[in-house]
Amino acid sequence: MTSSHLADSVSIGSLRVRRIGYGAMQLAGPGAFGPPTDRQGALAVLREAVERGVNHIDTADVYGPRVTNEIIREALHPYPADLLIATKVGMVRGPTGSWDPAYTADDLRRQVEDNLRHLGLDVLDLVYFRASFSVHGPAEGSIEAPVTALAQLQRQGLVRHIGLSHVTPTQVAEGRAITDIVAVQNQYNLVHRGDDALVDALARAGIAYVPFFPLGGWTPLASATLESVAARLGATPRQVALAWLLRRSPNLLPIPGTASVRHLQENLASASLPLSDDDMATLDGAHRA
Ligand SMILES: NC(=O)c1ccc[n+]([C@@H]2O[C@H](COP(=O)([O-])OP(=O)(O)OC[C@H]3O[C@@H](n4cnc5c(N)ncnc54)[C@H](OP(=O)(O)O)[C@@H]3O)[C@@H](O)[C@H]2O)c1
Repeated sequence: MTSSHLADSVSIGSLRVRRIGYGAMQLAGPGAFGPPTDRQGALAVLREAVERGVNHIDTADVYGPRVTNEIIREALHPYPADLLIATKVGMVRGPTGSWDPAYTADDLRRQVEDNLRHLGLDVLDLVYFRASFSVHGPAEGSIEAPVTALAQLQRQGLVRHIGLSHVTPTQVAEGRAITDIVAVQNQYNLVHRGDDALVDALARAGIAYVPFFPLGGWTPLASATLESVAARLGATPRQVALAWLLRRSPNLLPIPGTASVRHLQENLASASLPLSDDDMATLDGAHRA
Protein backbone atom coordinates (compact mmCIF):
# COMPACT_ATOMS: atom_id res chain seq x y z
CA MET A 1 0.00 0.00 0.00
CA THR A 2 1.56 3.30 -1.06
CA SER A 3 0.57 6.93 -0.70
CA SER A 4 2.28 10.24 -0.08
CA HIS A 5 -0.19 13.10 -0.54
CA LEU A 6 -3.52 13.59 1.13
CA ALA A 7 -5.61 13.26 -2.01
CA ASP A 8 -3.66 10.28 -3.33
CA SER A 9 -5.24 6.95 -3.82
CA VAL A 10 -4.07 3.96 -1.84
CA SER A 11 -4.28 0.23 -2.53
CA ILE A 12 -6.48 -2.08 -0.51
CA GLY A 13 -5.58 -5.47 -1.90
CA SER A 14 -6.14 -5.26 -5.66
CA LEU A 15 -8.35 -2.16 -5.35
CA ARG A 16 -7.47 1.53 -5.08
CA VAL A 17 -9.32 4.09 -3.01
CA ARG A 18 -8.90 7.74 -2.10
CA ARG A 19 -7.70 8.64 1.36
CA ILE A 20 -11.09 9.81 2.67
CA GLY A 21 -13.98 7.42 2.39
CA TYR A 22 -17.48 7.49 3.80
CA GLY A 23 -18.99 5.48 6.66
CA ALA A 24 -22.66 4.74 6.06
CA MET A 25 -23.76 3.80 9.59
CA GLN A 26 -25.34 7.23 10.21
CA LEU A 27 -27.80 6.60 7.36
CA ALA A 28 -29.90 4.17 9.40
CA GLY A 29 -32.19 5.28 12.23
CA PRO A 30 -31.02 6.34 15.72
CA GLY A 31 -28.50 3.89 17.14
CA ALA A 32 -28.08 2.47 13.62
CA PHE A 33 -31.44 0.72 14.15
CA GLY A 34 -34.48 1.03 11.91
CA PRO A 35 -35.05 3.38 8.99
CA PRO A 36 -33.77 6.96 8.77
CA THR A 37 -36.13 9.87 9.36
CA ASP A 38 -34.98 11.40 6.05
CA ARG A 39 -34.50 8.70 3.41
CA GLN A 40 -34.22 11.21 0.55
CA GLY A 41 -31.51 13.00 2.51
CA ALA A 42 -29.64 9.72 2.97
CA LEU A 43 -29.77 9.04 -0.78
CA ALA A 44 -28.51 12.58 -1.45
CA VAL A 45 -25.53 12.16 0.89
CA LEU A 46 -24.39 9.00 -0.88
CA ARG A 47 -24.79 10.50 -4.35
CA GLU A 48 -22.93 13.64 -3.29
CA ALA A 49 -20.10 11.54 -1.83
CA VAL A 50 -19.57 9.63 -5.07
CA GLU A 51 -19.99 12.81 -7.12
CA ARG A 52 -17.16 14.36 -5.12
CA GLY A 53 -14.83 11.43 -5.72
CA VAL A 54 -15.42 9.18 -2.72
CA ASN A 55 -14.79 5.61 -3.85
CA HIS A 56 -14.65 3.80 -0.50
CA ILE A 57 -17.93 3.30 1.34
CA ASP A 58 -18.06 1.37 4.59
CA THR A 59 -21.28 -0.40 5.52
CA ALA A 60 -22.69 -3.49 7.29
CA ASP A 61 -25.93 -5.38 6.98
CA VAL A 62 -26.39 -4.90 10.75
CA TYR A 63 -26.97 -1.16 10.15
CA GLY A 64 -30.74 -1.04 10.24
CA PRO A 65 -30.46 -4.07 9.79
CA ARG A 66 -30.46 -4.07 5.97
CA VAL A 67 -31.45 -0.40 5.86
CA THR A 68 -28.07 1.10 5.01
CA ASN A 69 -27.25 -1.50 2.38
CA GLU A 70 -30.64 -1.02 0.71
CA ILE A 71 -30.16 2.76 0.68
CA ILE A 72 -26.68 2.35 -0.85
CA ARG A 73 -28.16 0.14 -3.54
CA GLU A 74 -31.01 2.53 -4.27
CA ALA A 75 -28.68 5.54 -4.43
CA LEU A 76 -25.78 4.11 -6.39
CA HIS A 77 -26.62 0.87 -8.22
CA PRO A 78 -25.35 0.16 -10.86
CA TYR A 79 -22.16 1.04 -9.05
CA PRO A 80 -19.26 3.03 -10.51
CA ALA A 81 -16.47 0.65 -11.56
CA ASP A 82 -14.00 2.15 -9.08
CA LEU A 83 -16.29 2.06 -6.03
CA LEU A 84 -15.16 -0.20 -3.17
CA ILE A 85 -18.01 -1.10 -0.82
CA ALA A 86 -16.61 -2.65 2.36
CA THR A 87 -18.87 -4.53 4.74
CA LYS A 88 -18.59 -6.37 8.03
CA VAL A 89 -19.80 -9.72 9.30
CA GLY A 90 -19.76 -11.38 12.71
CA MET A 91 -22.81 -9.78 14.32
CA VAL A 92 -26.59 -9.68 14.03
CA ARG A 93 -29.15 -7.34 15.59
CA GLY A 94 -31.57 -8.48 18.25
CA PRO A 95 -35.26 -7.48 18.16
CA THR A 96 -34.61 -4.34 20.21
CA GLY A 97 -31.39 -3.38 18.48
CA SER A 98 -28.78 -5.28 20.51
CA TRP A 99 -25.54 -6.14 18.66
CA ASP A 100 -25.19 -9.90 19.06
CA PRO A 101 -22.08 -11.91 18.09
CA ALA A 102 -22.85 -14.48 15.36
CA TYR A 103 -19.91 -16.15 13.75
CA THR A 104 -20.32 -19.80 13.11
CA ALA A 105 -19.51 -20.77 9.52
CA ASP A 106 -23.26 -20.85 8.79
CA ASP A 107 -23.77 -17.42 10.38
CA LEU A 108 -21.00 -15.92 8.27
CA ARG A 109 -22.25 -17.47 5.04
CA ARG A 110 -25.76 -16.16 5.73
CA GLN A 111 -24.42 -12.68 6.49
CA VAL A 112 -22.28 -12.62 3.34
CA GLU A 113 -25.32 -13.71 1.30
CA ASP A 114 -27.49 -11.05 2.97
CA ASN A 115 -24.93 -8.36 2.15
CA LEU A 116 -24.71 -9.55 -1.46
CA ARG A 117 -28.50 -9.56 -1.86
CA HIS A 118 -29.17 -6.23 -0.15
CA LEU A 119 -26.33 -4.45 -1.96
CA GLY A 120 -27.18 -6.08 -5.30
CA LEU A 121 -23.71 -7.55 -5.83
CA ASP A 122 -22.31 -10.90 -7.00
CA VAL A 123 -19.10 -10.52 -5.03
CA LEU A 124 -18.22 -8.38 -2.00
CA ASP A 125 -15.01 -6.34 -2.49
CA LEU A 126 -13.94 -6.31 1.15
CA VAL A 127 -15.46 -8.12 4.10
CA TYR A 128 -14.20 -7.54 7.62
CA PHE A 129 -14.62 -10.18 10.26
CA ARG A 130 -15.76 -8.05 13.21
CA ALA A 131 -14.70 -9.67 16.51
CA SER A 132 -16.74 -9.06 19.64
CA PHE A 133 -15.14 -10.80 22.60
CA SER A 134 -15.85 -7.66 24.68
CA VAL A 135 -18.19 -4.72 24.23
CA HIS A 136 -15.57 -2.39 25.70
CA GLY A 137 -13.02 -2.78 22.90
CA PRO A 138 -10.86 -5.37 21.20
CA ALA A 139 -10.23 -8.33 23.52
CA GLU A 140 -8.24 -11.52 23.13
CA GLY A 141 -9.82 -14.72 21.86
CA SER A 142 -9.11 -16.95 18.90
CA ILE A 143 -10.49 -15.82 15.53
CA GLU A 144 -9.21 -18.89 13.73
CA ALA A 145 -12.60 -20.51 13.04
CA PRO A 146 -14.42 -17.43 11.65
CA VAL A 147 -11.46 -16.26 9.56
CA THR A 148 -11.07 -19.76 8.14
CA ALA A 149 -14.79 -19.78 7.29
CA LEU A 150 -14.49 -16.39 5.60
CA ALA A 151 -11.46 -17.58 3.63
CA GLN A 152 -13.59 -20.47 2.42
CA LEU A 153 -16.23 -18.02 1.16
CA GLN A 154 -13.40 -16.12 -0.53
CA ARG A 155 -12.27 -19.27 -2.32
CA GLN A 156 -15.86 -19.77 -3.46
CA GLY A 157 -15.76 -16.34 -5.09
CA LEU A 158 -18.25 -14.54 -2.82
CA VAL A 159 -15.61 -12.32 -1.20
CA ARG A 160 -12.70 -10.57 -2.93
CA HIS A 161 -10.68 -9.39 0.08
CA ILE A 162 -10.72 -10.03 3.82
CA GLY A 163 -10.20 -7.54 6.64
CA LEU A 164 -10.41 -7.66 10.43
CA SER A 165 -12.26 -5.30 12.73
CA HIS A 166 -12.27 -4.63 16.48
CA VAL A 167 -9.18 -6.78 16.88
CA THR A 168 -5.96 -6.91 18.88
CA PRO A 169 -2.46 -7.17 17.36
CA THR A 170 -2.42 -10.86 18.36
CA GLN A 171 -5.62 -11.46 16.41
CA VAL A 172 -4.19 -9.59 13.40
CA ALA A 173 -1.21 -11.96 13.45
CA GLU A 174 -3.53 -14.95 13.83
CA GLY A 175 -5.65 -13.80 10.88
CA ARG A 176 -2.61 -13.14 8.68
CA ALA A 177 -1.38 -16.68 9.31
CA ILE A 178 -4.65 -18.00 7.87
CA THR A 179 -5.20 -15.72 4.86
CA ASP A 180 -4.21 -12.43 3.27
CA ILE A 181 -5.55 -9.59 5.44
CA VAL A 182 -5.72 -6.33 3.47
CA ALA A 183 -7.24 -3.98 6.05
CA VAL A 184 -7.86 -3.56 9.77
CA GLN A 185 -10.76 -1.44 11.04
CA ASN A 186 -10.51 -0.36 14.68
CA GLN A 187 -11.44 2.68 16.72
CA TYR A 188 -8.74 5.31 16.35
CA ASN A 189 -8.73 9.11 16.38
CA LEU A 190 -6.84 12.10 17.72
CA VAL A 191 -7.67 11.30 21.34
CA HIS A 192 -8.10 7.52 21.11
CA ARG A 193 -4.57 6.39 20.34
CA GLY A 194 -4.39 2.86 21.72
CA ASP A 195 -3.52 1.47 18.28
CA ASP A 196 -0.56 3.77 17.56
CA ALA A 197 1.91 0.89 17.37
CA LEU A 198 -0.51 -1.25 15.34
CA VAL A 199 -1.05 1.56 12.82
CA ASP A 200 2.71 1.79 12.28
CA ALA A 201 3.20 -1.98 12.10
CA LEU A 202 0.43 -2.33 9.52
CA ALA A 203 1.87 0.56 7.47
CA ARG A 204 5.18 -1.32 7.34
CA ALA A 205 3.33 -4.45 6.21
CA GLY A 206 1.38 -2.60 3.48
CA ILE A 207 -1.97 -3.12 5.22
CA ALA A 208 -4.61 -0.40 5.36
CA TYR A 209 -5.89 0.81 8.73
CA VAL A 210 -9.44 2.17 8.58
CA PRO A 211 -10.09 4.16 11.75
CA PHE A 212 -13.72 4.00 12.81
CA PHE A 213 -15.13 6.85 14.92
CA PRO A 214 -12.62 9.27 13.31
CA LEU A 215 -14.71 12.13 14.72
CA GLY A 216 -15.43 10.42 18.03
CA GLY A 217 -18.52 8.50 16.91
CA TRP A 218 -21.42 8.72 19.37
CA THR A 219 -19.34 11.09 21.56
CA PRO A 220 -17.88 13.97 19.52
CA LEU A 221 -14.16 14.58 20.02
CA ALA A 222 -13.56 17.10 22.80
CA SER A 223 -10.09 18.62 22.97
CA ALA A 224 -8.96 22.15 23.79
CA THR A 225 -5.80 21.52 21.74
CA LEU A 226 -7.88 20.56 18.72
CA GLU A 227 -10.10 23.64 19.14
CA SER A 228 -7.13 25.99 19.34
CA VAL A 229 -5.36 24.55 16.27
CA ALA A 230 -8.64 24.69 14.34
CA ALA A 231 -9.25 28.33 15.32
CA ARG A 232 -5.73 29.27 14.22
CA LEU A 233 -6.17 27.55 10.84
CA GLY A 234 -9.69 28.88 10.25
CA ALA A 235 -10.97 25.31 9.99
CA THR A 236 -13.44 23.32 12.06
CA PRO A 237 -12.14 20.97 14.77
CA ARG A 238 -13.54 18.02 12.82
CA GLN A 239 -11.63 19.03 9.71
CA VAL A 240 -8.43 19.25 11.71
CA ALA A 241 -9.12 15.85 13.30
CA LEU A 242 -9.47 14.31 9.83
CA ALA A 243 -6.46 16.14 8.41
CA TRP A 244 -4.43 14.86 11.39
CA LEU A 245 -5.41 11.27 10.54
CA LEU A 246 -4.46 11.78 6.90
CA ARG A 247 -1.01 13.05 7.85
CA ARG A 248 -0.47 10.68 10.77
CA SER A 249 0.25 7.69 8.51
CA PRO A 250 -0.25 6.94 4.79
CA ASN A 251 -2.14 3.72 5.54
CA LEU A 252 -4.92 5.54 7.47
CA LEU A 253 -8.14 5.67 5.45
CA PRO A 254 -10.75 7.52 7.54
CA ILE A 255 -14.44 6.86 6.89
CA PRO A 256 -16.23 9.77 8.62
CA GLY A 257 -19.97 9.23 8.88
CA THR A 258 -22.69 11.82 8.43
CA ALA A 259 -26.31 12.08 7.35
CA SER A 260 -25.78 15.66 6.21
CA VAL A 261 -24.60 16.80 2.75
CA ARG A 262 -23.10 19.94 4.29
CA HIS A 263 -21.14 17.96 6.87
CA LEU A 264 -19.97 15.57 4.14
CA GLN A 265 -18.63 18.50 2.12
CA GLU A 266 -16.86 19.91 5.18
CA ASN A 267 -15.30 16.54 5.92
CA LEU A 268 -14.04 16.02 2.38
CA ALA A 269 -12.49 19.50 2.38
CA SER A 270 -10.15 18.34 5.15
CA ALA A 271 -8.12 16.49 2.48
CA SER A 272 -6.73 19.81 1.35
CA LEU A 273 -6.13 21.27 4.81
CA PRO A 274 -2.38 21.60 5.26
CA LEU A 275 -1.04 20.79 8.73
CA SER A 276 2.50 21.92 9.47
CA ASP A 277 4.99 19.88 11.45
CA ASP A 278 4.31 22.24 14.38
CA ASP A 279 0.56 21.63 14.10
CA MET A 280 1.19 17.87 14.08
CA ALA A 281 3.44 18.11 17.13
CA THR A 282 0.81 20.16 18.99
CA LEU A 283 -2.00 17.80 18.02
CA ASP A 284 0.05 14.76 18.95
CA GLY A 285 -0.20 15.94 22.56
CA ALA A 286 -4.01 16.17 22.47
CA HIS A 287 -4.61 12.68 23.85
CA ARG A 288 -2.43 13.41 26.88
CA ALA A 289 -4.05 16.77 27.69
N1 LIG B 1 -16.08 -1.74 12.85
C1 LIG B 1 -16.82 -1.25 13.82
O1 LIG B 1 -17.03 -1.86 14.87
C2 LIG B 1 -17.46 0.10 13.63
C3 LIG B 1 -18.04 0.76 14.73
C4 LIG B 1 -18.58 2.00 14.53
C5 LIG B 1 -18.55 2.61 13.27
N2 LIG B 1 -17.99 1.94 12.22
C6 LIG B 1 -17.89 2.58 10.89
O2 LIG B 1 -17.21 3.80 11.01
C7 LIG B 1 -17.95 4.85 10.38
C8 LIG B 1 -17.65 6.17 11.06
O3 LIG B 1 -18.14 6.14 12.37
P1 LIG B 1 -19.35 7.03 12.88
O4 LIG B 1 -20.11 7.54 11.72
O5 LIG B 1 -20.09 6.26 13.90
O6 LIG B 1 -18.60 8.17 13.67
P2 LIG B 1 -17.78 9.47 13.25
O7 LIG B 1 -17.51 9.49 11.79
O8 LIG B 1 -16.65 9.58 14.19
O9 LIG B 1 -18.80 10.64 13.64
C9 LIG B 1 -20.09 10.68 13.14
C10 LIG B 1 -20.84 11.75 13.92
O10 LIG B 1 -20.24 13.03 13.67
C11 LIG B 1 -21.23 13.91 13.12
N3 LIG B 1 -20.55 14.67 12.06
C12 LIG B 1 -19.90 14.18 10.99
N4 LIG B 1 -19.37 15.17 10.26
C13 LIG B 1 -19.70 16.33 10.89
C14 LIG B 1 -19.44 17.69 10.62
N5 LIG B 1 -18.73 18.07 9.55
N6 LIG B 1 -19.94 18.63 11.48
C15 LIG B 1 -20.67 18.26 12.56
N7 LIG B 1 -20.94 16.96 12.87
C16 LIG B 1 -20.46 16.00 12.04
C17 LIG B 1 -22.33 13.05 12.58
O11 LIG B 1 -23.56 13.70 12.69
P3 LIG B 1 -24.34 14.27 11.38
O12 LIG B 1 -25.00 13.10 10.76
O13 LIG B 1 -25.28 15.27 11.96
O14 LIG B 1 -23.31 14.90 10.51
C18 LIG B 1 -22.28 11.85 13.54
O15 LIG B 1 -23.02 12.13 14.70
C19 LIG B 1 -19.39 4.36 10.50
O16 LIG B 1 -20.22 5.04 9.60
C20 LIG B 1 -19.24 2.89 10.25
O17 LIG B 1 -19.21 2.65 8.85
C21 LIG B 1 -17.43 0.72 12.40
